[in-house]
Amino acid sequence: MEIQALEKTIAEITDTARNLWEKGWAERNAGNISVNITGLLSAQELELFSNSTFRPLPITCSPLADQILMVTSAGSRMRDLAKNPWDHLCILKMDASGTYFKQWPEKGRDPTSELSTHVVVHSTLIQTKSAKKALVHTHATELIALTQIGEFCSTGSLNHLLWTMHPETILFVPKGLGFIPYEIPGTSGIADATAKTLEDHPVALWEKHGVIATGKSITEAFDTIDILAKSARIFFLVKSAGYEPEGLTEEQLNELMS
Ligand code: 13P
Ligand code: ZN
Repeated sequence: MEIQALEKTIAEITDTARNLWEKGWAERNAGNISVNITGLLSAQELELFSNSTFRPLPITCSPLADQILMVTSAGSRMRDLAKNPWDHLCILKMDASGTYFKQWPEKGRDPTSELSTHVVVHSTLIQTKSAKKALVHTHATELIALTQIGEFCSTGSLNHLLWTMHPETILFVPKGLGFIPYEIPGTSGIADATAKTLEDHPVALWEKHGVIATGKSITEAFDTIDILAKSARIFFLVKSAGYEPEGLTEEQLNELMS
């Protein structure tokens, strides 16, 4: 049972990594993925950590006590991850206080440079008893492009635009995304802002950088980003054809939500 669940998780990571690359959202090492796999490792697999040394987490997260996260390693390319997942993943086992972790493989590459955000968000998901276990960060070009336009640099204006570009956007993403003004990547500032935003929205859009989505599975997180990016793409396609997008009316949006 556990082995099957772990294999399914790895298969989802490789499929999603390939999709991110094919979407054009994963230049060089862009993007990272994490999933809470607590309970999926056998007693024998847990033994792999026994001789490793503890390292400090970038931020202490007491709700993460004894939790196990699978995360992509820093600098890994999505297109390589899709082919050889074990060369680009690491498993982090937290201590009983959520302050330190042991890594497998111990001598492997460090976890993603966005580890602060991943651990703080997973910690918040546990605290809020969320069923969500997966996080996907990617450089979704169309959504990043919207944040280069001042009038779309707010949660309200972004969601209004995205919902009006396609009827299924509001149906599948009724809580929309949350906008986060520019922050230096990898910092505790972006981690805290992201965790707060993801309490109310399935996706956070980091100004001029990328998106990060939560989901019950990695596939669900990817799908949510994909739907939002489709709406942004429709907007830019109509604009680049020289037209002003009509968008759905308020009445049509209300009808969809009734
Ligand atoms: P990592 O390779 O460290 O995961 O960084 C990629 C990225 O997109 C940083 O925002
Ligand atoms: Zn990034």
